Amino acid sequence: MKTLGYYNGKYGELEDMAIPFNDRVHFFGDGVYDAGPSRNYVIFAIDEHIDRFFNSAKLLEIQMPVTKAELKQILQEMVNKMDTGNLFVYYQVTRGTGIRNHVYTEGPGNLWIMLKPAEISDGIEPIKLITLEDTRFLHCNIKTLNLIPSCVANQRAKEAGVQESVFYREGGRITECAHSNVHIIKNGELYTAPTDNLILPGIARRHLIDKCKELGIKVNEVPYYLDDLFTAEEVLVTSSSNLCLHANEIDGMAVGGKQSELLEKIRKAVLGEFVEATQLIQKKAV
Ligand SMILES: Cc1ncc(COP(=O)(O)O)c(C=O)c1O
Repeated sequence: MKTLGYYNGKYGELEDMAIPFNDRVHFFGDGVYDAGPSRNYVIFAIDEHIDRFFNSAKLLEIQMPVTKAELKQILQEMVNKMDTGNLFVYYQVTRGTGIRNHVYTEGPGNLWIMLKPAEISDGIEPIKLITLEDTRFLHCNIKTLNLIPSCVANQRAKEAGVQESVFYREGGRITECAHSNVHIIKNGELYTAPTDNLILPGIARRHLIDKCKELGIKVNEVPYYLDDLFTAEEVLVTSSSNLCLHANEIDGMAVGGKQSELLEKIRKAVLGEFVEATQLIQKKAV
């Protein structure tokens, strides 16, 4: 199959899928999601993504309709049905179905899954960024479906001819990007925002931190600011869709480019782990 969708046990090509009108997502965006890549039919860091998915649901008191093991099995079975093993593997749970009412519906949520072909960037080409004030709510640690500020930010990025937007809060504190985490190298050390309620605890961020530590690079999980971003030795952008990118321009000004050897070591370590974990094997047995 070229694309594949799932909704509460029903499967089909994405364009053939139909969703009940009263799914609460339509009125309230009431749900959470998670997503990551697969390569060669191997879903990367699947347990970490499923753990975060269940945690997001728990934080919003959404009842999961499946166990972690069941979800993992459904995802792998679906991946195995695809024409290519290089995919974007996306799943969400919405808070059930019912006539529009702000008060929660009872019972288990609705499980959605979406697979489409996708490739991971090798991270060699630098990207360009813009900065925008972070006007999102104060639950950014939960991967909710309320993505309007992120959609607006990505539209602004597109209009500016760049790839991502970096959010900052009042006082210039850098939080993250519209759909990535952002980090800097300063004095040869990695600085990244702490995992409080202002950022999503990115899985790629976690892997970047682990790789930096393995390389002997000190990691500082502390707030940093616009000034630090513009004067950084390097600016890194991580996400599960494009594991380890770096930027050479923000708001039209040149940034980074002062620790290219260190950057290359980090890029190779992060990409290397992904390639190693997703080696070409027979379609993964479930
Ligand atoms: C707001 C936000 N921050 C960070 C990330 C990166 O998270 P991960 O590395 O788990 O993909 C994402 C990914 O969707 C995101 O939406």
